[in-house]
Amino acid sequence: MRHVPYLLGIAWLAVVSSLSATYAAEDDKRIDHGRYLVKIGGCNECHTEGYARTFGKIPESEWMIGREWGEMGPWGTTFPVNVRLLVAEINEDGWVARIRHNTTRPPMPWYNLRDMTDSDLRAMYLFLRSLGPAGKAAPAYLHPGEETKFPHVQFPADAPRPPRTEVSPRPGLQPAHTCDTEAYSSPPSCIRESVQSRTTALSSQAKRS
Ligand code: HEC
Repeated sequence: MRHVPYLLGIAWLAVVSSLSATYAAEDDKRIDHGRYLVKIGGCNECHTEGYARTFGKIPESEWMIGREWGEMGPWGTTFPVNVRLLVAEINEDGWVARIRHNTTRPPMPWYNLRDMTDSDLRAMYLFLRSLGPAGKAAPAYLHPGEETKFPHVQFPADAPRPPRTEVSPRPGLQPAHTCDTEAYSSPPSCIRESVQSRTTALSSQAKRS
């Protein structure tokens, strides 16, 4: 009988370790799913230097650390941010809230991320966190007309206009323009206006030719 507590202890340990193995396996699955989403979601195209040029042959250790060449258009000049430094600063709920409510400047396809399910966004966060922080912050955003010393691609002048209002600054980043006062069930009016003015410009161009 004196072995009973000892045996109970061993049984308890076995239960605890099998439970933690189950949780770890579950986390691994979510991380794998996050990796898959980042990969097929096109995130590396912009946030990982050399990814497009090498047809995706960049090791995971270099993924999502931003890049030093930007895109200049009517919105100013933007640089794909270092997402690994960003996720190191915020928790999972903060990530989901941020993706749901913030808009960023072009050409970041924020609306694709916004429309992902919660569980997909959380899996993406877990994967990005699992990579660990690396690299340095991307160059800061520049307003329209500001010169940049960094290489950049120039967009045509009739590219989509920036949204109208600004949100308060977020950790480690400059404030982004946003239409966040609007409901997202339909495109924000500033985006609708921009699409409308583009369509009008294109149709009057078509009439001329
Ligand atoms: C076409 C290029 C492009 C693609 C593709 C792209 N991004 Fe971005 N991303 C950017 C740029 C540029 C910025 C900075 C925008 C700004 O300064 O407002 C940005 C900003 C971000 C931010 C910061 C948002 C914030 O709240 O501050 C996150 C997070 C992000 N991208 C994640 C992703 C993920 C995840 C994907 C894949 C689903 C992705 N991006 C695809 C260009 C891109």
